[in-house]
Amino acid sequence: MTLVQEPRQGTTQEPSGQVTGATTGATTEELAWGRSYAAVSPDHFRVDYVINPFMDPADQPDPERTREQWHAMLAALRDAGARVDVLRQRPDSPDMVYAMNLGIALTLADGREAFLASHMRYAERRAETVSAEAWAASRGRVLLGVGRDGVGPHLEAGDLFAWRGDLVAGFGPRTEEAALAPVAAALDVRVRGLRIVHPAMYHLDLAFCPLDDRRAMVCPAALDDASAAALLDLVPEPLVLTEEEALTFCANAVVVGRMVLMPACPPRVRYRLEAWGFRVVLLDLSEPHKGGGSVRCLTNPTDLVVGRDLDVVPGGEVALP
Ligand code: ARG
Repeated sequence: MTLVQEPRQGTTQEPSGQVTGATTGATTEELAWGRSYAAVSPDHFRVDYVINPFMDPADQPDPERTREQWHAMLAALRDAGARVDVLRQRPDSPDMVYAMNLGIALTLADGREAFLASHMRYAERRAETVSAEAWAASRGRVLLGVGRDGVGPHLEAGDLFAWRGDLVAGFGPRTEEAALAPVAAALDVRVRGLRIVHPAMYHLDLAFCPLDDRRAMVCPAALDDASAAALLDLVPEPLVLTEEEALTFCANAVVVGRMVLMPACPPRVRYRLEAWGFRVVLLDLSEPHKGGGSVRCLTNPTDLVVGRDLDVVPGGEVALP
């Protein structure tokens, strides 16, 4: 069994889910989103090409171990109280297991459920969009997009997070700066762009992880100086990660209420999370790591709401550092 659960220690948790902060005494609220997810069953997961520094076709994932690890992750999500909608993996798309990059699902300000598809930077991943859109349409979602088949700006949803009313968007290695305005306009939200410069943290979800309404894991080393400062400004109580800590994939975590599902937890990070009242659930995801992604990359939250998690900004707006 690869799942290890540790007892929670530290701060007092009130029945409402509010936690009294260990550092400032400020009251924090759990994230309103993160209780339902889409994931892709790893039926054809391989490392066929190299589009990030973790991938090496000579080091293939073991299919049996992959399946075990992925099912243990699903069980942990369900134990934490989350619902998971499972898509089948396309045989021609070995990276499709990283469901986070398919696109972003949300309820728009007018109440329609929508799916804004990614426009992957690398052609090797673009067939995934066809399946993602078919899935979203089958769930009654309106389809949106900013580009397709190499035409239009690249957008990869692993770069996108709802955070304190803004859609925080990493750009550089994958998402292009030119995608930010069309995303803001399509969703009627404010997009805050952050420039990623670290080649191994090629999506924002390797360097940033919202924990509750005031706290987030943040690795400034992933960003240029102005963007690092801007991100630290956005987070009232940051858990600042060193580059070495972030490269364990510890920020590529999924937060369900006060549970943090993560593949690794450096001692300092665990100490801080537990002092804040979070419970760490460690998952062995050695096989998905061979493609360069972990828990967050393998899951895609489907319960974001514009007007609750993101401020309504008619026509959209982009803010850059
Ligand atoms: N091999 C995949 C790629 O390079 C990994 C994706 C990781 N996903 C993520 N959300 N960071 O596109």
